[in-house]
Amino acid sequence: MKFHNKLIYWYLQNKRTLPWRQTKNPYFIWLSEIMLQQTRVTQGLGYYLKFTEAFPTVFNLAKANESTVLKMWQGLGYYSRARNLHYTAKYIANELNGKFPSTFLEIIKLKGIGDYTASAIASICFNEPTAVVDGNVYRVLSRYFGISTPINSTTGIKEFKAIAQSLIDKSQPGTYNQAIMDFGALHCKPQNPLCDSCPFANSCVAFEKNLVKELPVKKKK
Ligand code: ADE
Repeated sequence: MKFHNKLIYWYLQNKRTLPWRQTKNPYFIWLSEIMLQQTRVTQGLGYYLKFTEAFPTVFNLAKANESTVLKMWQGLGYYSRARNLHYTAKYIANELNGKFPSTFLEIIKLKGIGDYTASAIASICFNEPTAVVDGNVYRVLSRYFGISTPINSTTGIKEFKAIAQSLIDKSQPGTYNQAIMDFGALHCKPQNPLCDSCPFANSCVAFEKNLVKELPVKKKK
């Protein structure tokens, strides 16, 4: 079975039920992905519910005072995320008539949105086959393929992005991206990964060579 098919099979049996998985509205997906950067899903959840209730559309967020938005962000940290979020909400509401851009190349131009977030929104909301690479993806791919290139090196970033892109399921890219993130978070965990019950154990290089604990490699700066 192909990598993406095995992964999606695992996902359908193990995925987390999360509120932003009930929607393809790019405004909600954008909110959730910004909140989840450097933040655990369990912590981000409450903030997501609070924000979507207070600001059900991008126009509501655009109209809010920055101080209100920052106050609601309190506890999540990295406040530039909240400032950029508010700035971009105003841009979308006022310059784009509230219409969220629908391609990776347009989405990545928005302030506060980088490769990861643009890939997540383009794939989940618009079915564009753009692979996400977050900490979970680095871990899964470095172990499965036995890659020791440092994930925080220029070469590593390029190498992992290319592999991720080659593996994506083009017919359901959003599902695939969320599957690999959940697999990394729940199964191929940083500590105590569940190798004994892993659907990839028979083809995982790190498992075969007993390198699971050594991967991924991060170089000291
Ligand atoms: N972490 C950040 N975004 C995520 C998503 N959409 N699914 C799973 N984990 C995530």
